[in-house]
Amino acid sequence: MTNHIAVAREGKVLTITINRPEQKNALSHAMYAAIADALEQAQRDDGIRCVVITGAGDVFTAGNDMGDFAAGMPEGKPPVTRFLEALRDSEKPVIAAVNGPAVGVGLTMLLHCDLSFASDTATFSAPFTKLGLVPEAASSLLVPASLGTAWANDILLAGRKLDAAEALKVGLVSRVFVREDLMTQTMDLARKVAALAPNATKASKRLIRGGREAVKDQMLAEAEVFGAQLRSAEFAEAAAAFMEKRAPVFD
Ligand code: COA
Repeated sequence: MTNHIAVAREGKVLTITINRPEQKNALSHAMYAAIADALEQAQRDDGIRCVVITGAGDVFTAGNDMGDFAAGMPEGKPPVTRFLEALRDSEKPVIAAVNGPAVGVGLTMLLHCDLSFASDTATFSAPFTKLGLVPEAASSLLVPASLGTAWANDILLAGRKLDAAEALKVGLVSRVFVREDLMTQTMDLARKVAALAPNATKASKRLIRGGREAVKDQMLAEAEVFGAQLRSAEFAEAAAAFMEKRAPVFD
């Protein structure tokens, strides 16, 4: 149980808000589990036709909680994997409203959302290599496939942060709004999507996404390397550097 994920229903739209602003909406195991629960519940509920994911405050999410990463993964399927699988496999359309910086999984989760809107204050970064880690959520497949190799390397290898205008240009998001308008515009879209023919919408989503086997395989392959890197000296140095608020040194 966590009160860091708020779930609210308005008509046929379910809104999941990452609500831990004091730690920049960093995602803990309990928070991943709570989002996975909400997404799974949405699949079972015929009354829910569209899901919105956003963040409270000025950040979308600072990515995985670094303390949780440093403490190691729990036994069994990690909650982050449950979350990514629930998002990947969601039959209902999912809209992301990126209200500020989206770091790590904050960026990679967008690859599994159907529509992503951003505020002009949003930034997008996947600093995996700076953390001694590797891409996850099949981003190593989906980013080169959809944005091209050059952008994939800029984002996933060099870890460069994109601003909202760049994210729009490369197609990580489809619209950018001033911060004050983001949720109004997102909820307006969500209500419209929720009013569409539900079976046609689900079938369209399946067709647009195409075969998912390669995505599943890539997620498994990434998880293996990611797990090994989490246990590496490189990650130990990156985690120590994060806690000590200094740059990591990889000599
Ligand atoms: N895990 C745990 N705590 C985090 C966190 C994370 N991923 N991201 C931020 N925090 C904490 C900070 O340690 C800080 O805690 P403190 O007040 O106890 O010192 C607090 O949240 C505020 O963060 P701060 O960096 O001061 O806020 P900011 O507004 O200057 O910057 C971000 C916001 C999101 C841009 C910045 O926090 C960031 O880049 N975080 C790193 C995220 C990261 O590397 N994530 C891993 C991705 S795989």
